[in-house]
Amino acid sequence: MSNYHIKNLEEYFQVYRKSVRDPENFWEEIAEENFMWRKRWDKVLEYDLSKPEVSWYKGAKLNITENCIDRHLYARGNKTAIIFEPNNPSEEAEHITYNQLHDRVCRFANVLLDHGVKKGDRVCIYLPMIPELAVSLLACARIGAIHSVVFAGFSSTALHTRINDSDCKMVITSDGSYRGGKTIDLKGIVDEAMNSCPNVKTVLVAKRMNSEITMKEGRDKWLQPLLDEASNQCAPEIMDAEDPLFILYTSGSTGKPKGMVHTTAGYMVFTAYTFKNVFQYRENDVYWCTADIGWVTGHSYIVYGPLANGATTVLFEGVPSYPDFGRFWQVIEKHKINQFYTAPTAIRALAKERLDFSANYDLSSLKILGSVGEPINEEAWHWYNDNIGKKNCPIVDTWWQTETGGIMISPIPYSTPTIPTYATLPLPGIQPALMDENGDELKGNLVSGRLCIKFPWPGMARTIWNNHERYRETYFSTFKNNYFSGDGALRDSTGYYRITGRVDDVIIVSGHNLGTAPIEDAINEHPAVAESAIVGFPHDVKGNALYGFVILKETGETRLHENLRKEINQIITEHIGPIAKLDKIQFTTGLPKTRSGKIMRRILRKIAEKDTNNLGDISTLLNPEVVQEIMDGAI
Ligand code: WTA
Repeated sequence: MSNYHIKNLEEYFQVYRKSVRDPENFWEEIAEENFMWRKRWDKVLEYDLSKPEVSWYKGAKLNITENCIDRHLYARGNKTAIIFEPNNPSEEAEHITYNQLHDRVCRFANVLLDHGVKKGDRVCIYLPMIPELAVSLLACARIGAIHSVVFAGFSSTALHTRINDSDCKMVITSDGSYRGGKTIDLKGIVDEAMNSCPNVKTVLVAKRMNSEITMKEGRDKWLQPLLDEASNQCAPEIMDAEDPLFILYTSGSTGKPKGMVHTTAGYMVFTAYTFKNVFQYRENDVYWCTADIGWVTGHSYIVYGPLANGATTVLFEGVPSYPDFGRFWQVIEKHKINQFYTAPTAIRALAKERLDFSANYDLSSLKILGSVGEPINEEAWHWYNDNIGKKNCPIVDTWWQTETGGIMISPIPYSTPTIPTYATLPLPGIQPALMDENGDELKGNLVSGRLCIKFPWPGMARTIWNNHERYRETYFSTFKNNYFSGDGALRDSTGYYRITGRVDDVIIVSGHNLGTAPIEDAINEHPAVAESAIVGFPHDVKGNALYGFVILKETGETRLHENLRKEINQIITEHIGPIAKLDKIQFTTGLPKTRSGKIMRRILRKIAEKDTNNLGDISTLLNPEVVQEIMDGAI
């Protein structure tokens, strides 16, 4: 087991060197040690990054749910696999053992089969954080269907775009969801989306709220009665290593969202290996990741990574502020959480509140704290370290992406000394590179550039659904034979990496990736709007917030600007979801443009950041006079 659980820095360097010297051998040993294969692979790795084509464990046969559930039943059948902690703390938590999970996944898988879902079919899952969400992912995987989870905060337009892009034949949803003190009519949103989704034959509805909803005859079915009737045995579909496991959409800087495709064997090995090492998971630990399963963090580090390790993983329905700002800390005390994984935006929001919210709870069970989704600023890091970890828990600042499938750069607790704001060192098997603007690799330390990965790793996405050319173009064309992340980073004098943020037009707001183009498209739908441009500006809780510059069709627009602002945010909510609302909207008569007509976002960004001393040379603009107007009107 030596290379599976790293114990100290010396061992890390040994393992790392080995993983770079002979990557195939490295990933082969890991795959041999810990998984249940129906057939062994013929070749560990085949790749050509110019195409790009990557195949891991080719020839192997397996089912990921056998690895996440069945093979634990003998030794851990009565161990808790999932703890469901409901939104309302007075509702009882539910402990689902591995035996029970097996039963529930098999029943659900049989319901899918009964409704004609077959291997390779796409199923859209639009559920709140309730046990059915985790179970439905696994049920799809059990029968080889490809799940496509859409975060239940997305609007009906965002939902139907994603359903149609991957041609899902079924949608799994619920009669509503609780979010703190609010409720959301998820089924209503699905019904609206269904007007644009002719190929969806079945909508399965989980009961969460007992709310009055309408069920469309022949299409909509309550889930529970079907589960009750189904058999609790379902033989797993035996999959090829490279069969798709799921599609998950992520925003691009332009165009429609990208359906990233992850495949079976490599993703499984990678999430399992990284989970075990980054969180140093031990048999009786209770692990909690606060992400939503609608995002990749939930896929990899609530469901697949932990379950592949036979871990106990918490599934939390609620929010950090309900019923009060002590909720996270109360859950940690209640379930004696050992590893806690959350996002900087949550930490910053909680750090603003009174300290007694955390001081009132016993947090002594904690061993390791994690952070993901955006750079963690120094202040938030210290607050987390001092008040939650009591200076006793290593903080793992984990850098990765939907596209990478799992954690890429992160400290390994008790091995890698941590420094605030540094994701530190690449995990074994990961070969980062920093590139300059000419596409040359920056060697040595004390350099900063664009963050690439120069060698394949098992968890990498293999393509964009239905658009391999876009995959090649987006990730593998900027720097030849390298995967380009879209992030900037620096490497310090000791080789530690610090991620500095996006270098493209993706803005990370509260840890959510938002492309500027889809938001601008939504705003431009407003009948009074001629053109718009979105940039990010620093925000003390969200990390970044959105600033919109909007040109109206008629300068003499009679409607009050305040009303227009509300309407613009309403349109964004309808097209994308509330997470993409703008914090500031400035009306202007023009946008700074180059002579070829491209918006100079750099200038807008500086104005939004209130950093206007050094705007650079604006004389080459098509319309330099507009810059002063925008500066004068800045909010
Ligand atoms: C950002 C989330 C700094 C980064 C797993 C990346 C981070 C994007 C970190 C991916 C971190 C994620 N430090 N930035 N520790 N982790 N990011 O696809 O810009 O939702 O490209 O995946 O989040 O976001 P995604």
